[in-house]
Order: sequence, then C-alpha cells, then structure tokens
Amino acid sequence: MARPDRSDCVENGDGAGAYSEDGIPVVDFDVLVNGNSDQRLAAILHLGRACAEWGFFMVINHGVPESLQGATMDACRELFSLPTEEKSEYMEAGPMDPVRVGTGFNSAVDGAKYWRDYLKMFAHPEMHCPAKPAILREIATEYATRTRGLMLELTTAISESLGLDGSRIAEALNLDNCFQILVGNYYPPAGPDVGAIGMPTHSDHGLLTLLFQNGVNGLQVKHDSEWLLAKPIPGSFFVIVGDQLEIVSNGRYKAVLHHALVDGEQARMSFVSLIGPCLDAVVKPIPELARDAPQGAEFRGVRYRDYMEHQQSNKLKENAALDIVRVHRQILTREGSPNSSLINV
Ligand code: OGA
Ligand code: NI
Repeated sequence: MARPDRSDCVENGDGAGAYSEDGIPVVDFDVLVNGNSDQRLAAILHLGRACAEWGFFMVINHGVPESLQGATMDACRELFSLPTEEKSEYMEAGPMDPVRVGTGFNSAVDGAKYWRDYLKMFAHPEMHCPAKPAILREIATEYATRTRGLMLELTTAISESLGLDGSRIAEALNLDNCFQILVGNYYPPAGPDVGAIGMPTHSDHGLLTLLFQNGVNGLQVKHDSEWLLAKPIPGSFFVIVGDQLEIVSNGRYKAVLHHALVDGEQARMSFVSLIGPCLDAVVKPIPELARDAPQGAEFRGVRYRDYMEHQQSNKLKENAALDIVRVHRQILTREGSPNSSLINV
C-alpha cells in the first residue's frame, strides 16, 4: 500500500496543519521530528490544538512499517483462533495480571450488547506474552518498541505544545519506566443486530493510545457533543488522548470519549498500543500549568497503578474514573466517591 502522505489531507487556511476529509486533525510525524524550526513550530501548534479541541488525531509518516502492523494483527488473530484450552490460563487473569485473554459474548449490559474477544499484554517495563502462537513474542516486542518510541516522541512535542520543555512531561511521569500495554480486539460480525456495540463508551486510562484497525470501520469518537465515525487514512494511526494527559495538562488537553461499533457482516479487529506513566508515579497537574490556571489545580494527585486498577476493575463508564480525581465540589456528594481510595493519594 502506498505510503500515506499529505495528499490524503485537506490543509487548513493558515497552513498550520491538516485535517482528514471528516475534519479529524492529521499530524505529520516526519515534520514534527525532522522539519525546520518554522515547520516544527507549526506542527506543534497543530498538535496542541488537536489535543485541546479533539483529544484525538491521526498520525501519518510515523515510521512504523505497515508490514509490522499487519504481522501484529495476524499474530493476534492466530491467538484468538487457538482452542480454548491453549488460552485458558490467561482467561482467569485479573486486571493487573500481565497477560489476559477474554473471550466470547458478554450478555446485555446497560441494554447494549458487547461483542468482543481481547488479548491484553503488558509490554513495558517488561514484555509479557502468551507462549502461543510462537511468533507472537518477537512481533509484539518489536511492535511495542517501535510504537513506544513514537508515543514518547509525540509526548515531547505535546510537552512543547503546552509551553514546557520537551522533557517536562517525561520527567514528571518517569517515562523512562513508562507502563505500556498492547491490546488486540476482535469483534465478530453482529448479524442483524444493527448498531451493536463492541466496546462501551470510555476514555483510555493512560497517557496516549495508538490504534489501528483491519479496514473495517467502527471506532467512534465524541467531538462537539456528536459521535463521529473515525475513518483512517491508510497506514496511519489514530492517537487517543488518555486520562493521564488530561490530568498532567491540568485539563488543557482532553481525554476523548470513544466506543466501538460492530459491523453486521465483517469481523472487525483493532490493535492498541498504550503508554502510561511509570506505575508508581503519582500523577498530578504540572505545577506551572496549575499556577497559571484561573481555578488552580483541576485534579488531585493519583498513583497511576491505583488509577488503572480502579478503571479496569469497574464497568467501563464514560470517564467516571477521571471524575473521581477531578477537583469539583459536586464530586464530594457523588455516591461512592468519598470512600474511594483514589482520592486520598
Ligand atoms: C480500546 C478501544 C476501540 C476499538 O481498546 O481502548 O477503545 O476500535 N478500542 O477497538
Ligand atoms: Ni479505548
């Protein structure tokens, strides 16, 4: 497939950045890293706007080979097709276990049907992987390394877009020891069940998420109160701003709400690579950003491990986890919140 380039995009009037046909911001990674200083500045401004106004964008010219994306998806598909006995040891796992496989059909929750098989592997600081298929470890390790490098570079540019040193967010969150997880999602065709939901509405618990899919659309993001079907530029990645970026940026950048629809006839697959802070980092708004904000700090400090465990142990419900650490008077009256171990970190 051809390398995506800017001809797939529409330039906006001021030349500062591009948008897809549907209006989704498109960030050219090559310009961000290798552009001259004027080009970099324009790309960083565009990136900052994408994080503030959308919490979502596409990245092109990102340097991760399309063949590696394909091989990762194939290895994941192979895992899903193994007989249940081969996967059963990972099916008992809890949210903080490093390899987890979930399978089958989840009965109705909140009136919606969720169809999804998934594989979750912790990939950093240590790579964890099911033993089979044998090819998976090598491919997943390579994929994790390449996508982690990409997301760390994006984090540097994001830090600059907030008016901070490029290394500021990485230092605050100890990203040398960042957490990383890979997730493969398989959504069987829903048949006549039109509008079946594969994954309910949520925001991601980490800092940044990179997602690509197998050519079957289904990811919807909420933008300006509307749900928009995200159609990728071939070879690109979707980038999703997660809860920890909303917290460190003191709410300047928004963790976008999203969900996945299931196709009627075609199986849909998506593959996610997510980075978060070091699991032991206490995440709070960067003090310089809180100082300059009219209301001061918008979030309390929270240890990422506790945050993630909480989010993963409860039913996915929009961004309820983020609301618990948000500094808002009404939070104290919200049922359950005062007792949450999350708010006293
Ligand atoms: C996720 C997610 C959406 C999709 O894994 O967090 O949002 O399109 N997936 O599968
Ligand atoms: Ni998600």
